[in-house]
Amino acid sequence: MGGEKVRVGVIGCGGIAASHVSGYLKSGMAEITALADSRVERAKALAERFSLKHASVYENYEDLLKDRSVDAVSICTPHHLHAEITIKAAEHFKHVLCEKPIAISLKQADEMISACRKNGVKLAIVFQNRFSQDVQRVKREFENGDFGIPIYGEAVVKWYREDKTYYHADEVAKSWRGKWATEGGGALINQTIHLVDLLQWIMGPVEYLYGIYDTRMHSIETEDIAVSILRFKSGAIGYILGSVDLRPQEDWVAIYGSRKSVIIGSDKRVAREWSEESGTVVSKESVGERMETVTPFLGHDETVRDFIESILKDRPPAVPGEEARKSLEIVLAIYRAHRTGSKVALPLVE
Ligand SMILES: NC(=O)c1ccc[n+]([C@@H]2O[C@H](COP(=O)([O-])OP(=O)(O)OC[C@H]3O[C@@H](n4cnc5c(N)ncnc54)[C@H](O)[C@@H]3O)[C@@H](O)[C@H]2O)c1
Repeated sequence: MGGEKVRVGVIGCGGIAASHVSGYLKSGMAEITALADSRVERAKALAERFSLKHASVYENYEDLLKDRSVDAVSICTPHHLHAEITIKAAEHFKHVLCEKPIAISLKQADEMISACRKNGVKLAIVFQNRFSQDVQRVKREFENGDFGIPIYGEAVVKWYREDKTYYHADEVAKSWRGKWATEGGGALINQTIHLVDLLQWIMGPVEYLYGIYDTRMHSIETEDIAVSILRFKSGAIGYILGSVDLRPQEDWVAIYGSRKSVIIGSDKRVAREWSEESGTVVSKESVGERMETVTPFLGHDETVRDFIESILKDRPPAVPGEEARKSLEIVLAIYRAHRTGSKVALPLVE
């Protein structure tokens, strides 16, 4: 590691990459020394946008990995490349912050985890909502037993994406979105996985599930709507709905126990909480203060800061590869349940 700041290379300079760059710059603990994109003009444009005059720009990410002025990388490429790039980065002893989903198969995820472990580098995956203060509080309270008997948990993502502006927005989008081989799935693996991650993080491991998916309104191979019912190892029952077909758009994760329930969504107005102790339903409108902290849909600043600190302090990142593998496993199990028309038990054997 050179100097006080962690020197970062960004691989894949499309839509989400700017959130990474801005997070690194704001952290004050990192500098961007290199950018790579197979469409090199995108890497140049990102460098210009953030006035990164001294950053090297590469067309081939392997050249960035050979660059000795890079200590760590952010991987912001299409899903099918996460594994290949992470493994090569680890072989070049670069720490890795990779976008969600960790990969498109468990085999890939396992290879990423073991390559990073073997080469002594960090592997962090972006699930920014885990840094929400309210999500962390609910996780803590659930672990403390404040919810009583866990009864039911729900992850709902009703979002809307158009072919014109999303799946077929440009040549790059067309090349990977909406395809099993490159996106690895659709609404579930890309969008819904954020809330699947929160649901399983709070409620614990899944024992088995059923699933059904369909493609109702997009010209894509992959699913644009999916539903799963599931049983947690705790005995609680769960439900997942993920779609990019639905308006009005809304989303939430909801956790119900015998003594307490909490609903958190990206719109603060859905935030509600009930507890036996208070005997009433608390909402932002009725009480204010406490629910003002509901900020589940965060940007990347906390994720990036945590990654950099994990390197500087040599501690595990908040969401290591092993953690991110869990939501991938649930998503892949739902796909299998649909295809086989049967109940799928976890752990999933590929
Ligand atoms: N955490 C979040 O909230 C969030 C939000 C959006 C996207 N994402 C994730 O970020 C990743 C990228 O998504 P996006 O929307 O920015 O996609 P995008 O299509 O806008 O950008 C991907 C970029 O990768 C580049 N690329 C493709 N192959 C490459 C290669 N071999 N080497 C170098 N660059 C290559 C493309 O040219 C493109 O510029 C995905 O994993 C996605 O799920 C996460």
